[in-house]
Amino acid sequence: MSKRLDNKNIVVTAAGQGIGKATAIAFSNEGANVYATDINSKTLEILNKDYPNIKVKNLDSTNKKAVEEFSASLKKVDVLFNAVGFVHHGSILECDEKDWDFSFNVNIKSMFFMIKSIIPIMIKQNKGNIINVSSIVSSLRGLPNRLVYGTTKAAIIGLTKSIAADFIKNNIRCNAIAPGTVHTPSWENRVKAFKDPVKAKKDFIARQPMNRIGTPEEVASLAVYLASDESDFITGIAHPIDGGMSI
Ligand SMILES: NC(=O)c1ccc[n+]([C@@H]2O[C@H](COP(=O)([O-])OP(=O)(O)OC[C@H]3O[C@@H](n4cnc5c(N)ncnc54)[C@H](O)[C@@H]3O)[C@@H](O)[C@H]2O)c1
Repeated sequence: MSKRLDNKNIVVTAAGQGIGKATAIAFSNEGANVYATDINSKTLEILNKDYPNIKVKNLDSTNKKAVEEFSASLKKVDVLFNAVGFVHHGSILECDEKDWDFSFNVNIKSMFFMIKSIIPIMIKQNKGNIINVSSIVSSLRGLPNRLVYGTTKAAIIGLTKSIAADFIKNNIRCNAIAPGTVHTPSWENRVKAFKDPVKAKKDFIARQPMNRIGTPEEVASLAVYLASDESDFITGIAHPIDGGMSI
């Protein structure tokens, strides 16, 4: 029986845990050959062991040289799924220049490096598909204490639309996914960092009118749709998946 991503070669960043991991697994379950990349080799090991069509690679997406070397080793790339991201907590008063530069480096420059080095392969193929993980906290919504995070996530939507416009004639699509709160290891750590984690958890849940947070697997389902040919008429769009947060 044919699967939705049969014969597709897909590169996933931040595949060690959370949304990136769930998406790498969902892509693999739909028949894709997946290159799962992350800076954490330990978390990648599980994917290597349990999923025969996932190859793992330790890759820091903010390291230009390493990204270029990795990309040079690839022959065919049908889909690039960019998920690297970091949440800085605070308003402009708590965000110093170092915080600003760190978040821009991790959240947006990583995507710039990945796309810049992989898109020539897609241009040669005259086909390609790029999916960038943004957030509802971006140009879609402002929330307290997400100054630099929301700014970088808005930049991802700008990047997505620009790539979509520039390469539409090359049959390259580019979309963004904009999740609300999702149950991932980094979210758990964010909750634990509050003085009152029980209240913090309740507040995070209350942000979604559905009164729950999302799962990485739900985000992965949207990613499978955007990675598949079923969504071939869709490009340049930020797709919310947020339990009603953006209504
Ligand atoms: N969890 C949420 O509530 C939520 C909501 C909206 C958007 N997002 C976005 O989804 C993406 C994934 O977040 P998550 O919460 O699923 O994952 P996470 O934060 O739990 O894990 C991030 C992964 O990225 C890896 N990583 C960090 N820096 C890296 C680098 N420079 N190069 C390669 N890998 C690196 C880490 O090792 C880790 O495995 C992020 O871009 C995040 O901003 C998350």
